[in-house]
Amino acid sequence: MRVLVTGGAGFIGSHIVDALLQRGHIPFVVDNLSTGSRWNLPADVPFFEVDICDANRLSEVFDTVQPDWVCHQAAQMSVSRSMREPAVDAEVNVIGLLRVLENSARVNVQKLVFASSGGVLYGDVSVPAAENSPANPISPYGIAKWVGEKYLEFFSRERGIQGVALRYANVYGPRQNPHGEAGVVAIFSQRLLAGESPTINGDGRYIRDYVYVQDVARANVLALESPLSARNIAINIGTGRSTDVNQLAELMRDGVSDIWRSAGRSDPVPACLHGVPRSGDLRSNLVNAAFAKSVLNWQPEVPLEVGIPETIRWFAEIR
Ligand SMILES: NC(=O)c1ccc[n+]([C@@H]2O[C@H](COP(=O)([O-])OP(=O)(O)OC[C@H]3O[C@@H](n4cnc5c(N)ncnc54)[C@H](O)[C@@H]3O)[C@@H](O)[C@H]2O)c1
Repeated sequence: MRVLVTGGAGFIGSHIVDALLQRGHIPFVVDNLSTGSRWNLPADVPFFEVDICDANRLSEVFDTVQPDWVCHQAAQMSVSRSMREPAVDAEVNVIGLLRVLENSARVNVQKLVFASSGGVLYGDVSVPAAENSPANPISPYGIAKWVGEKYLEFFSRERGIQGVALRYANVYGPRQNPHGEAGVVAIFSQRLLAGESPTINGDGRYIRDYVYVQDVARANVLALESPLSARNIAINIGTGRSTDVNQLAELMRDGVSDIWRSAGRSDPVPACLHGVPRSGDLRSNLVNAAFAKSVLNWQPEVPLEVGIPETIRWFAEIR
C-alpha cells in the first residue's frame, strides 16, 4: 500500500517507515524537520520537506502521493513547550492534524492511524489504565491529543475514513529525541556516556510504562494492515510494567558499564544525583494493553533489559 507518514523523519515515524518497508509497503514522508532528521530515513524514501500547517503545500503532497493510508506522527511533542506556548502547540497538534484529516478525506484515504498518548490522557493512575478510563489531560499537549481523537472520530463518522488512535505509553529507543515524552532515556544516555552524573528529579519515584520503539512501529503497521470492524477505535500501546526513574537509571548505568568494560575502560560509571522535583510531573502512569492483543494481536516483545542496552549502544555509536 502507499502510506504517507507525517513526521516520518522523527524518532517513532522513522521506525514506522523501516517497518513499512519490511512489510513491502511504499512509504512517503512529509516532515518539516523541526525535530526530525533526513538521516533517520533511507535515502530512497520519497521525502517532502513541508509543514503540515501549510495548507497549499500539504495539499500538493497529497495530490502527488495519493496515499491509501496515512500514519500521522507529526506533532509539537514537547509537553513543557505546550505549557509555555499553548497556541503554538495547538497550531501543529490541532490545526495541523485538521489539515491532514481534510486532505485525507479529499483524496479518499481508507485508514488513518493517529499517534495519541496514554501518557498524557489518563493522568495519575496507580493501576494500568484501560481505554475506557476517563481522559484527564492536564497539559495543552494532552488536551490537543484528546481533541485530536475527537476530530478523528468526526472524520470517521462524517467522511468515511477509518480512524485508529494509538495511545502510546512512554516510547524509548534508538534515534530518540531528548525533548519528547520519554526524553529521560535520551538525556541519561548522553550524560552517562559523557562520564557525567545525570540528575534525577526529586526522589525519582515517578512510575512510567516504557515501551520500545520497534514494538510501537510494529503496532502502527498492524493497525494499518488489520481489518477492523469499528469505524473508529482507540488502542493503548504499552507494557503495563511499572518502572520508576531510579530503577531506569540503574539499568542505564549497567548498560554503560558493559559498553565501557568491553572497550577496556575500568573507571566507574558516575552515580546519579537527585535534584528538585519538577512541578506537574505525574507520580504514576501506566497503560493496559490487553485490548491491543485482542484487536491487533499485538503485544510488546522487547523488555527493558534488552531495549535499554540497545538504545545506549546506539547513543554510544553516534557520539
Ligand atoms: N515519544 C513518546 O514517548 C511519545 C508518547 C506518546 C505519543 N507520542 C507521539 O508520537 C508522535 C511522534 O513523536 P516522536 O517522539 O517520534 O517525536 P519526534 O519529534 O521525533 O517526531 C515528530 C516529527 O514531526 C515533525 N514535525 C513536527 N512539527 C511538524 C510540522 N508542523 N509539519 C511537519 N512535520 C512536523 C518533526 O520534525 C519530527 O520529525 C508524536 O505525535 C508524539 O506526540 C510520542
